[in-house]
Amino acid sequence: APVDAVPERHRDVSLPLWWYGYRFISRRMDRLRATAFQARLLGSPTVFLRGRSAAQLFYDNTKFTRVGAIPGPIKSTLFGRDTVHGLDGHAHHHRKAMFLGLLDDDAVEQVTDIAALHWHERLTGRGPRRRIVLFHEAVQVIAAAVCDWAGMATRHPEFPGIATELARIVDGFGSAGMRHVRARVARLRCRRWARGYVSAVRDGRLHPPPHRAVAVVARHRDERGRLLPLDVAADELVNVIRPTVAVAWLITFAGLALHREPGWAERIAGGDRAALTAFCQEVRRYYPFAPFLAARARKDFQWQGHRFTRGGRVVLDLYGTDHDPRLWDRPEEFDPGRFLAWRFDPFSLIPQGGGDAASGHRCPGEALTMGLLEQATLLLARGRAEVPRQNLSFSLSRIPSRVTSGVVLVPRG
Ligand code: HEM
Repeated sequence: APVDAVPERHRDVSLPLWWYGYRFISRRMDRLRATAFQARLLGSPTVFLRGRSAAQLFYDNTKFTRVGAIPGPIKSTLFGRDTVHGLDGHAHHHRKAMFLGLLDDDAVEQVTDIAALHWHERLTGRGPRRRIVLFHEAVQVIAAAVCDWAGMATRHPEFPGIATELARIVDGFGSAGMRHVRARVARLRCRRWARGYVSAVRDGRLHPPPHRAVAVVARHRDERGRLLPLDVAADELVNVIRPTVAVAWLITFAGLALHREPGWAERIAGGDRAALTAFCQEVRRYYPFAPFLAARARKDFQWQGHRFTRGGRVVLDLYGTDHDPRLWDRPEEFDPGRFLAWRFDPFSLIPQGGGDAASGHRCPGEALTMGLLEQATLLLARGRAEVPRQNLSFSLSRIPSRVTSGVVLVPRG
């Protein structure tokens, strides 16, 4: 039905969206039997979208812009101001090229090689450990690996605190209240820490090799040839480090999934590469993490009976698309088998955004995410640690969701 037929379009859904979380948009669409609906979000008219053709529409740069799309509190906590996420056109293309240049195949190999050393050190280096919390280990390992690679000192006694702050930024982005306040404070501390590196490179006090992320970001010039303002450069450096730390959330979900799927764990431990990749893709599809994205319409237009007005906000439901029954058979079942014969499609599996990373806003860190996730999943499958009784639930109304216990493991002998 056209949006105009829906009488509830003036209702503000901010509170129920925040309250019900990942499933809110899908449930409302199912109830309305619509592929889109209009409502108000933080007071402004918004069209909510889900599904493959909706994702294709959302990534049409001629129809939507990201400028001014992300609500202020989320933007300044998670990404920073004037950073790649909110840029448009040539400025976006130019800044994005910096990220894509940094995050090439060599980077994936280097970061995972360094992560292998950190995993080894943390899991065996201090003698056998009685129990570990996978989430906390993953945060420390991934943060140390990406920061070593970027050219930032990780042997400093204060580094574990920085790793924890980086995780706090991720943990607080979708929340109100204390979790959000903690994230804001963490963002300020991390920016200050990153600013120190940018200044040191620019002043000639630090001489990293030119391909290191600290050097690339500190010396990056915008499309008009100017160095980035200090805070923007610091935020962009954090925009490489922080989302990499977010992979710890997926690693923790993978730990839970291996426990629940011993058959797949055995296949993976036995060296089945295809099974490992399929399993990790299913972890990215099935478990809740990035919930949705926002953009603004550049012009007035109609799409499948829905009306978009210039400047109006649209929200694309990532979680809902990854669980859309039109795209996925039995979407609420965890079934890595669905990815064994899967052909890449830029608009159906979109946990890290859709479309093309070079020409649009799709995440430039997907290969690194898969590299780190596959590495940890293989390690966990081979380690066959015991999983004692604990609270392994995760909430679909907490954004970002995570396993309550963090997945406690007792390493074997
Ligand atoms: C963008 C998710 C890992 C760097 C994004 C977007 C999502 C996302 C949903 C927004 C896409 C859009 O606006 O259309 C994730 C998830 C990750 C992850 C779930 C793993 C848990 C990474 C990693 C890096 C990274 C490892 C870098 C090292 C970025 C950057 C952007 C971005 C710089 C902004 C791109 C742009 O606006 O053009 N990510 N990401 N992400 N991600 Fe990731």
